Order: sequence, then C-alpha cells, then structure tokens
Amino acid sequence: MCGIVGYAGKRQAAPILLEGLSKLEYRGYDSAGICIHGEKSLQIAKAKGRLQVLCDQTENGNAVKGIIGIGHTRWATHGAPSDVNSHPHLSDSGKIAVVHNGIIENEAKLRTQLIAKGIQFRSETDTEVVANLVGYYYEKTGNFVTAVRKAVSRIEGSYALGILCEDLPDTIIAVKKDSPLIFGYGEGENFIASDVPAILKHTQLVSYLEEGEMVIFNASSVRFFDGNGDPVEKKREQITWELDAAERGGYDHFMLKEIFEQPKALRDTISPRIQKGEIVLDGIDLSAQYLQDVRKIYLVACGSAYYVSVLAKYIIEKTCRIPTEAVMASEFRYAEPVIDERNLVIIISQSGETADTLAALREAKRLGAKTLAIVNVVGSAIAKTADQTIYTWAGPEIAVATTKAFSTQLAVVYLLAAYMARQLKTMDEETYRAWVTGLEQLPGEAEKVLTAEKVEAVQYYASRYYGHHDAFYIGRNVDSAICLEGSLKLKEVAYLHSEAYPAGELKHGPISLIENGTLVVALATVEPLFDKTMANIREVKARGADVLCVTLEDMAQEAQKQGDGILTIPRILPVLQPSLSLIPLQLFSYYVALNRGCDVDKPRNLAKSVTVE
Ligand code: G6P
Repeated sequence: MCGIVGYAGKRQAAPILLEGLSKLEYRGYDSAGICIHGEKSLQIAKAKGRLQVLCDQTENGNAVKGIIGIGHTRWATHGAPSDVNSHPHLSDSGKIAVVHNGIIENEAKLRTQLIAKGIQFRSETDTEVVANLVGYYYEKTGNFVTAVRKAVSRIEGSYALGILCEDLPDTIIAVKKDSPLIFGYGEGENFIASDVPAILKHTQLVSYLEEGEMVIFNASSVRFFDGNGDPVEKKREQITWELDAAERGGYDHFMLKEIFEQPKALRDTISPRIQKGEIVLDGIDLSAQYLQDVRKIYLVACGSAYYVSVLAKYIIEKTCRIPTEAVMASEFRYAEPVIDERNLVIIISQSGETADTLAALREAKRLGAKTLAIVNVVGSAIAKTADQTIYTWAGPEIAVATTKAFSTQLAVVYLLAAYMARQLKTMDEETYRAWVTGLEQLPGEAEKVLTAEKVEAVQYYASRYYGHHDAFYIGRNVDSAICLEGSLKLKEVAYLHSEAYPAGELKHGPISLIENGTLVVALATVEPLFDKTMANIREVKARGADVLCVTLEDMAQEAQKQGDGILTIPRILPVLQPSLSLIPLQLFSYYVALNRGCDVDKPRNLAKSVTVE
C-alpha cells in the first residue's frame, strides 16, 4: 500500500528510483512520482497512472538529473488518483519534499492549523500536511533534522516517510511508524525502501527500521536514531533471496510464476521442519502443560490469510480437540473478544504488515493472550510484535493475488496442528506418522497438479466459462473453506461476481440466484461427503447451472455423471487434500482473467499489502 524508495550515491538517481519503484508496484499503482535533488533545486516529476507513464515522461529517468532522490508509487487513500495528488509532495515554501506510505490520522486538524498560519495546500492528500509541517518547522528553526523531529512528534497515524530538503543537497531523512521501511547499504551509495525487491539489485545488506526510528544518510554515511532522538546501532542483515526470485523469469505474470513455484515453496517451508521423522518447530514454545490449559484458540487474519484460518479451524479442532475460531482481523478488535492468558491467538499474514492484523495482534497481547504469528516477510512488524513467529518460506510474493503464500501458510498450519496434537497426545502414533509422510510428499504431489495435461484442462474450462456473469463455489467441510479462497481469487483477478457457500447451505437462500447458465464450481474431495455434494450438484443442475466439478482422480468417473466439466487432483492423505484442490482453482481464476483481458498482476482497486484500516 504505497511503495517508497530513496537513493543517495554517485550514480544518476532517477533511473535507479524508477527501477526500484517497478519492484514496488504491487503495493499500489494508481500514480507514481520522483523528486531528485539537482544540487540547487528540488525537481519533481509525477504522473497519474502506471509507473510506465512516468518512465515515458522522464525518458526512463534520464531527463531528470541528480544523484540523490526519493520516489513513490501510490495506492490512493486521501484524494483520488491524479497528477496533483501523486507523491512526492512539496511544502508550500518549496523547500521540503516528502514521500509517504501510511495514513496521517490527524491530518484534518493539522491542515486547519497550518492554513490558519497562511500556508497553502495544493492537493487533497494527508502527505502534504507532513510536507508543510516539516516546512513550517524548517522555516522556524533553520534545522532540517529538528524540523522533521518536531513534525513527527505532532503527527498521528502510520507512516514511512522519505524527506528531502532543498538546502541540503546530500541528505535524506527517513522515519518509520507502523509502515515498513528498510535501509540498504551499498558501496558509495545507500538506499531506503518499503521492501527488499526494490533494492535487491544493488545490495543484499539491510537494516530494518523499528517503530519510531529515524535514519539520516547520504552516499557515504548513515546515522540511526530511536524515537527519543538517541543514536542507535542497527544490526545489518543479509538478504538470502536471489535477485531472480523477484523477477518474472519467463512467465507472463507473477501470478502464474508463483502458482508454479508452489511445490518449491512447500518444500522450503516443510522440509526444514521435519527432522528424522519428527516435526520440529525451532524457537516455538508450546508445551503440553501450556496447551492443556488453552481454553480456545483464535486465528486472526485478513483476506486469503483469513481463509487459511477458516481451514485451520477444521484442522486444529479435529487434531487437537481445542475449540478454535477464525476471526477477520478487521472485526476482531471491535467485537470485544473474551480473551485472556488462557487463549492462544494465531495471527496469519503474508506481508506481516497488514494494518488490521497488526492492530488485532496488539490487542490480543494487551489482553494477555499468548500470540504466535505465521508470516512470510522476515523482520516485518507482525513477525516482530508476536511472542513467537513461524515463517513461511515462500520467497517474495509479488502478484497482488496471493497463491504460494496461501499454500505455505496452510502447510505451516498442518505442521503446527500435528506438533500441538503430539504434545497434547490427541493424535495416535500411526496418524502422526501418516501426517509426517504426507507432508514430506506434499511438494511432489503439488507438482502433479501442475503438469501440462492438468493445466491444459483448466485452460479449456476457463475459455469455456469466462463469459459468465456470476459464479458460485460450493463444497462441504474443508472444501467449503477452499471454495472461499477460489471464489475470492476469481473476484480479485477476473472481476467476475462470485460467491462461496457450503454446499448444504445453498438451498437456504442463494439457490434462488441459480438460473440457466449460472456457473457453479463444485468441490467434491471429501470422500465421506461425496454423495451429499453430488446431490447438491443435482439440485443446481436441475435449475440450469453449468457445473465444473473438482474431485479426486479415482472419483472422477462418478462425478462425471453429474458435472459438465471435471478437474481432478491426486488422492493424498485426506486432511492434506485442500493443499491440492486449491491449485486448479488458482489456475482457473488466472486463465479466466486472461480470457477477460484483465491485468492479472495488478487488479483494479487492490493492493498487495494493506497498511490502512
Ligand atoms: C490484501 C491482499 C490479499 C491478502 C490480504 C492479507 O487484501 O490483496 O491477497 O490476503 O491483503 O494480507 P497479508 O499480507 O496480511 O497476508
């Protein structure tokens, strides 16, 4: 949700900033801008639309000269996408330029106060308030650092800020609160960015800024300060991602690449955690004694991660026999949950920075619960705030619509459920062995769902059904949870209206919407419930629906009798089956979106990481 990047060095800054921004477009892409310090003055170039518009306007940055600068790609919150609302924003005095990720909650009050002092505003953004506040204090004190400190002490909300001052041609100041910011160490050059891919080409050595921290840097030196203004030493961390992990590498879209990366992501997530036939969760402290006293587990997340939570409820309750509830993070805080130290709160997040999820985590901690986060981005706010963290090793996920992060979150849920069940002795030895073997084999089984033959079958049905206006996803038990995710994917990338319902619930209302040609995607992978799902398929077919059924290879013949179309997956340990049934649904959304001419990696109105409530 907005990406920022900053550069100070000896090379021309603008092309480096634009290239960095291209790696951050997943955070927002309704406008982009740069500010380059051209020794004497601040030069701004910004434009509504995709980054390419700005690249064309500036000849890929070559038209804006200077060796220090800041850049931004935006997901609009305050003010519609437009040239004038694009970042960077200048103070009224023209001395200060700011890029910002986050939301300034008291912007209206500050704006009124600044206007009363005669300061003029040009945009509708909250960011311009920051530029003018720093500008105001700079006029008063003549000191850039002091001005930023004073301004920051008055703003409320979330921010990662990159700030330039016209009078200081070699300094960038950056500050962070509740929005991610990293500092990258180069040779004779330094960087800031919202996320690693933006600077990975130039350096793999970074420091993660903590809450309230400030960094002041130029090409050759850097100083960090805490929220009180005291100097701090930062740990330098080596990024282990390869550069091509954040590139499309021959695939038409990141989404497709990431779908195909799932076997590897599963292997990377699962294999280090199974040692000599035992599930090992390094650094996780969930003793039998502690777990026996847990009266309820909450799973809290947003979007697809919430749907992993819905699945996790089935899995954890089944294996651990602890009451478990999945809650949307945006609802959690305000529902006054009954939580204390006898609750375990599991937070699931790819980015580790989703505002609602982070707020829910803080609330759970405040109420005294033990918290455990399942996170993909190392060093992210959620990873740092939770009492314990298990990382999904999915690698960088760039496409807005999540795929491999979902799969690996689910894999961690399986590992965790079996681990807890082992502690609690609620799983017998034979079942535990079957889980361990099943998990070890899961990456290989996922490969079998991605063979050319399987993918072609999905392509065929996508080209047959892409013109539909409505879709219903139905399934029972864990299939119903996977339906939620499949349906969300179709909405996100193909803009096709879609609903997900437990198959047995359809007749209690939504069936009234089924008419000739309505698309129904039916999941029938839970064998004991197969006949019941087939009966539900018959019900919708009787009302004219076109049915695409996803089932196990050895049940296909039976399902064929009811469904118009069939997609199959191999039979594996039943509890792990959702890890496979998900994949054809991801592919289906992808190919339907392609058929409908949608911008798959950058769907309208969405952003990958949502750092506002
Ligand atoms: C956004 C993304 C979703 C994601 C959700 C939660 O809405 O578009 O794909 O599931 O945020 O993100 P998180 O990073 O917390 O998993």
